Amino acid sequence: MSTLTHLGRRQFLAALGSASLLGALPAISLAKPEQSGTGNFKPDLELEIRATPDEVAIFPGRRTQVWRYQAKVLQGDAKAVSTLPDSYLGPVIRVHKGSKLRVHFYNDLPEPSIIHWHGLILPEAMDGHPRYVVPPGGKYLYEFEVINRAGTYWFHPHPHGMTGEQVYGGLAGLFIVTDDEERALNLPDGAQDVALVIQDRSFSRDNQLRYLSNSGGMMGMMGGMMGFAGDQIMVNGRPDFKLQAERKAYRLRLMNGSNARIYKLAWEDGTPLTVIGTDGGLLSAPITRPYVSLAPAERIELWVDFSARRPGEALTLYSQPFAGMSGGGMMGGGLGNGEAFEVLQVNVGKGAAVAGKLPMRLTAIAPPDLQQVRNADHPRTFRVTAGRMRWGLNGRVYQMDEVADDEVVKLGTSEVWEFVNEASMGMMGGMPHPMHVHAVQFRILKRSVDREAKQAWFSLGEGFVDEGWKDTVLVMPGERVQVLMRFSHYPGLFVYHCHNLEHADMGMMRNYLIKA
Ligand code: C2O
Ligand code: CU
Ligand code: CU
Repeated sequence: MSTLTHLGRRQFLAALGSASLLGALPAISLAKPEQSGTGNFKPDLELEIRATPDEVAIFPGRRTQVWRYQAKVLQGDAKAVSTLPDSYLGPVIRVHKGSKLRVHFYNDLPEPSIIHWHGLILPEAMDGHPRYVVPPGGKYLYEFEVINRAGTYWFHPHPHGMTGEQVYGGLAGLFIVTDDEERALNLPDGAQDVALVIQDRSFSRDNQLRYLSNSGGMMGMMGGMMGFAGDQIMVNGRPDFKLQAERKAYRLRLMNGSNARIYKLAWEDGTPLTVIGTDGGLLSAPITRPYVSLAPAERIELWVDFSARRPGEALTLYSQPFAGMSGGGMMGGGLGNGEAFEVLQVNVGKGAAVAGKLPMRLTAIAPPDLQQVRNADHPRTFRVTAGRMRWGLNGRVYQMDEVADDEVVKLGTSEVWEFVNEASMGMMGGMPHPMHVHAVQFRILKRSVDREAKQAWFSLGEGFVDEGWKDTVLVMPGERVQVLMRFSHYPGLFVYHCHNLEHADMGMMRNYLIKA
């Protein structure tokens, strides 16, 4: 994709350079384990997924060069994989909890890549850690069992230094898990169960995607520090997205697939949003919010009953303005993070109304249990730091082969982690950082906000859905957030990082080791 930046590539090469020093590791050996494929794995579903360049019609005129995943079912339920209508984004994989998957990944891109299954709890070699990248023309074999709860997960590339560029190019798909308990709730299904991936993009006059480098040196650099913000909102890879809805109840699975943009989603007419699920599946009971805040990589599931709407009514979901997130607007005249804009429109049909019934209880979620937690009153702390035009964590940036003493946890234990985002970060000012941890789903225990940061916090924070299971949490400027997680299943080396992809690519990511 010639129009995309090569900034990422340089960083990747730098990272590769350090990976070749594996022998120099002090305490822990991070040698790449043999790829699995034990021979006695019996998949329920076998897929081929190719990451490949393509050209698609998005706007009238010239076709747009994108990168996309193309999937094929080789064995198992042919309906397990579907495409998003009329889109290069996706595909959508739907499986039942407990399913065993074999995925043959082929990298047809001109640069290294690897698939990460965001939110799934997987053995290290299946998780898509950046050191498993395969070169152009290479392939990778995944074999895993889906042990997660029913929920909306997703997958995307994870090559260090190039994730932002590759996701931006079009590589992102959904991984939807169902289970018997969820099925028994009779939530809206089939055409009434709709996945919506929200992203922002920026296009040149001849319809080509523009990423950071096109803004030129200093602007490209600022874009890296701020994260990319585009001026064209896309839903499922389409501009001006319209959902044709019947007068029935819907389950809308919203995913923020943007590199850096945060959304503050609300119905234009002020109807409150009914939230039934979040990153790691259903909440124990539906809750309502005047708006929901959705940071990069977060998912939210809404239950919406269009039966009460007038036949033919049009309804807009938009992103409300919020405070204090400067930067984006500098990007080539783009829309800044925090400005108001329309996200999608729902056109309600004219057929008969069928009122939906929302269960008052969805699932059992036990309250967070701090009894078993080793460090409940001295959390493991990760501070957002900034130095030399690069974000970091505890003053460190990503090194492929490095894990520090304070980044080692023990398998089978639970811990409280605290993410700290001090408001004043020198010349950079405060920025929100969506923090994501691989290999776990966690619970949000508490947030505390500095007094000076409260006002900006309140312009977004009331839309946080901290109930239920999470794998990504937005940490606002001047805020500290405590989460509780359990390293329950697999030992190995995983990453935790900011899911502002420009931040992660520049090094706001670290390894952590779950020690057996
Ligand atoms: Cu969605 Cu490490 O990422
Ligand atoms: Cu992830
Ligand atoms: Cu960040």
